[in-house]
Amino acid sequence: MKEHIDRSNLPQHIAVIMDGNGRWAKRQGAARVFGHRNAIKAVREVTEGCAELGVKYLTLYAFSTENWNRPKLEVDALMQLLVHTIRDEIKTLMDNNVRLATIGNTESLPKDCQRELAEAMRATENNTGLILVLALSYSGRWEILEAVRHIAANVRDGNLQVSDITESMFGDYLATRGMPDPELMIRTSGEMRISNFLLWQLAYSELYIPDVLWPDFRREHLYEAIISYQKRERRFGKISEQLVR
Ligand code: IPE
Ligand code: IPE
Ligand code: MG
Repeated sequence: MKEHIDRSNLPQHIAVIMDGNGRWAKRQGAARVFGHRNAIKAVREVTEGCAELGVKYLTLYAFSTENWNRPKLEVDALMQLLVHTIRDEIKTLMDNNVRLATIGNTESLPKDCQRELAEAMRATENNTGLILVLALSYSGRWEILEAVRHIAANVRDGNLQVSDITESMFGDYLATRGMPDPELMIRTSGEMRISNFLLWQLAYSELYIPDVLWPDFRREHLYEAIISYQKRERRFGKISEQLVR
């Protein structure tokens, strides 16, 4: 499968909605948390797979703003899992030259989570390979509103003209500033929705939605997604004949 990937046409940025952990657990008669615990292997596979191929950015939707509304037991378990996983996976990140980053309202995470994240980001800050972006307490509307508030304050204070507000400058006010928009967005478990992920950035992303549940997602699935992406014609509103090949 890997040999069918065209290395000259890799997405620079892949975004993933890691969905289906609860259903995966339920299928085997286990508690939802069991699914979350078994999701770590998929995270490792996709991270290593992207790092090996030379993908520059991988953004993983790990916890949405709306996920705070889940039962407290599940939220607490997810936060604990996050703390342990970050601690345990620093070595994997270092071995693969991966730099860790986050987007989202991370100040709302428990203090020990914030500490582990800060430590892992510091430890990996000089790594030059894949940039792994965890979306935590993230939602697209939250991010856009934050940008709007920031821009409005700058206009109010006379530091910005209304006519300065362009698409590219707006992007600089988002949490993903400096990153290219994802060319490919994968959502596992077959759900045909965006669930408040990267609303601005996904404007022209190619979507890939396999039925496989996230805990079963492996490198081969990543390769399939990239190969599917490479077969698509990205027209950006134009017609086929206008595209340079
Ligand atoms: C995704 O799996 C993980 C998070 C949202 C944290 P789910 O927990 O949403 O699993 P399903 O969709 O209920 O199967
Ligand atoms: C989206 O999945 C959020 C993450 C994967 C972190 P959800 O399972 O929360 O989304 P909905 O509720 O099915 O839209
Ligand atoms: Mg879900």
